[in-house]
Amino acid sequence: MAKSTTLHICNNCDAQFSKWSGQCAECGKWGTLEQSSSTEAPQALQQRKQALDNVSAVKPTAFSDLTTAQVKRLTSGIEEFDRVLGGGIVPGSLVLLGGDPGVGKSTLVAQVAAGIGQTVLYVSGEESASQIKLRLDRLELNQSQLHFLAEEHVEVICKTITEQQPGLVIIDSIQTVASSAVDSEPGSVNQIKAATVRFLETAKTSGIPIMIIGHVTKGGELGGPKTLEHIVDAVLYLEGDRHHQFRLLRSAKNRFGSTNEIGIFQMQEQGLSQVANPSETFIAERSDSAGSCMTATIEGNRIFLVEVQALVTKTSFGFPQRKASGFDLNRLNVLLAVLQRRAGLPFDSHDVYLNIVGGVRFSEPAIDAAVCLALVSALYDQPLANTIIAWGEVGLGGELRSASRGDDRAKEAKRFGLTSPISASTVKNIRDTIAAAGLNKK
Ligand SMILES: Nc1ncnc2c1ncn2[C@@H]1O[C@H](COP(=O)(O)OP(=O)(O)OP(=O)(O)O)[C@@H](O)[C@H]1O
Ligand SMILES: [Mg+2]
Repeated sequence: MAKSTTLHICNNCDAQFSKWSGQCAECGKWGTLEQSSSTEAPQALQQRKQALDNVSAVKPTAFSDLTTAQVKRLTSGIEEFDRVLGGGIVPGSLVLLGGDPGVGKSTLVAQVAAGIGQTVLYVSGEESASQIKLRLDRLELNQSQLHFLAEEHVEVICKTITEQQPGLVIIDSIQTVASSAVDSEPGSVNQIKAATVRFLETAKTSGIPIMIIGHVTKGGELGGPKTLEHIVDAVLYLEGDRHHQFRLLRSAKNRFGSTNEIGIFQMQEQGLSQVANPSETFIAERSDSAGSCMTATIEGNRIFLVEVQALVTKTSFGFPQRKASGFDLNRLNVLLAVLQRRAGLPFDSHDVYLNIVGGVRFSEPAIDAAVCLALVSALYDQPLANTIIAWGEVGLGGELRSASRGDDRAKEAKRFGLTSPISASTVKNIRDTIAAAGLNKK
């Protein structure tokens, strides 16, 4: 007798459940579980097993017998971009570029496409040819080798790629392409995965590199599933606040290079321009008022000098307010507690606002020391001497921990006249840090 099982399958992510529920426990979508019953005869099962038993072994190849040809990477001429990829785009690779809406993904790929010096197939299901042309005209890019394809079917796109043999393919964006082999709607996890696997196949068999653009969801994930990141060869994120001009290009994964490199750009009318000397740009408009402190932070392999600004006012009603931009709010709360407890400062009765200037989010813990000094300087309403720069992680016991590459940070700071570094090599705890910065209650 045939064995019948009732399954409930999510039409967004294919997760299977024995019981129905309103929300898929796997992808979190509501109303996507559909009932499906599968019936498989025991003979059919037996036959399938036998077929699997009858497969024959394959002889492995010794690595020593393999010869590798020197791969020539495609370079875009945009050094900040090429470096993040480890020296250019590797032939046959699949690169995923993610970022918030409007951050400049299409702008970046358009600039890369024009600089690559080979025919580029620009596939877009999102924008029309004339919209893209408008952008290319605004960016004043050479369009002689750029070809446009308005197509949403992944099968048609892959066929066109193998027939046309372009030097590079750009898919803008993966959320708008769909495969007829999958039932779900475009943009669903299943469709995105199926399309990405198809592009991977095409890239590997044809040797043509493909760059796909993916939107970042509210949760900060690329196109929904993290699984997409496993399929592709490299994952790049373009980060930055839309209202500020700085953009950071980071690589979250790279099969052909280091993930330590980052690229820095500035968004301008003519597109993204490279910032070779970030410190200079970041400190160009530094303030010398109370509540401002400079720090040297390391992102990737590069050192940035950035300004931390704090505003501290007496709480007039209810709980004290804490707001942070470009800095983790939880971390700010921890530092305020450390200052309160270990340095005896009355932050519990003050509202605190913190801002890392430039609109870029730095996550290195070594920023702590400068955050504390900015807070204390704002609390006392005393500006710091304009040669002071501080770095180091602040521990819960109030101790200041040393940060990597201290000498390099000091050297970079010196180049910009910040000749009085305060770090774990000169002071041991937060009280000494405040004293070394010359801050004291009047
Ligand atoms: N005329 C202009 N002058 C200056 N900057 C512009 C101009 N037009 C667009 N921009 C900048 O380009 C950004 C949009 O770039 P782009 O279309 O490349 O972003 P995207 O990441 O592809 O967005 P989406 O997610 O919507 O596809 C805008 O947010 C703006 O900063
Ligand atoms: Mg776009």
